[in-house]
Amino acid sequence: MSVGPEPQYEAFADEFLDHARDGFYNAHLDRPACRDLLGEVDGLTVLDAACGPGLYAADLVERGARVIGADISPRMVELARRRVPGGEFRVHDLARPLDWLPDASVDRVLFALAVEYLDDRVAVLRELRRVLRPEGALVLSRQHPFGDWLRHGGNYFEPRVIEEVWSRGWRVRYWLNPLEQTCEELHEAGFLIERLLEPRPPAEAATVDPDRYARLTREPTGFLAIRAVPDPRA
Ligand SMILES: C[S@@+](CC[C@H](N)C(=O)[O-])C[C@H]1O[C@@H](n2cnc3c(N)ncnc32)[C@H](O)[C@@H]1O
Repeated sequence: MSVGPEPQYEAFADEFLDHARDGFYNAHLDRPACRDLLGEVDGLTVLDAACGPGLYAADLVERGARVIGADISPRMVELARRRVPGGEFRVHDLARPLDWLPDASVDRVLFALAVEYLDDRVAVLRELRRVLRPEGALVLSRQHPFGDWLRHGGNYFEPRVIEEVWSRGWRVRYWLNPLEQTCEELHEAGFLIERLLEPRPPAEAATVDPDRYARLTREPTGFLAIRAVPDPRA
């Protein structure tokens, strides 16, 4: 069972950008949570791992960060370059070593909504830890596993690859891993979890989409976001 190396988002990168720019889940759940966990970034170097079309990178650069972005999808990288001329972006499969980045060379790593597409997540997380400065932090977000499990049922504790067609016709393959596994993988890769958020939409989002707002304020069907720091003992 594997997700494999195919750049799945290449086929719908432009549609993803249209959707994620203002989409409820991205704009009102994940981006605010990651922003909160990243904290002040002025003057910091941030690696945006699986940067997509550069929506986070744009915000980071606006807030004074130097951004290095990487994504497996060439079209995503093109969109990110266009959106964020001040960033440095490259096509890169995170399953491969970040051999173009020295040890301890970045202050923050943002890894938003992509860990579920990687087969060997511990290897990826170890590599992210390698490039982080000892006083740095990783901010990772993922689909909330409870939401995935509510949709798919079966054994919650049994990791498996899900194949799904999302509402816009996007065909995706991703890992459904229990929460414990994500925590254990971070531990194995040498991280200490500092904070874990189950983001709910802010009050001002109630007028944007009242039904979604009501559902996401009571159900864990959105995302979760974690801030982890390199374990100095590891
Ligand atoms: C849901 S999108 C998230 C994009 C961006 N982080 C955001 O939240 O706007 C998932 C992204 O992960 C990228 N991705 C998936 N597998 C990858 C891999 N092995 N290496 C690098 N990027 C990958 C996809 O190309 C896509 O851009």
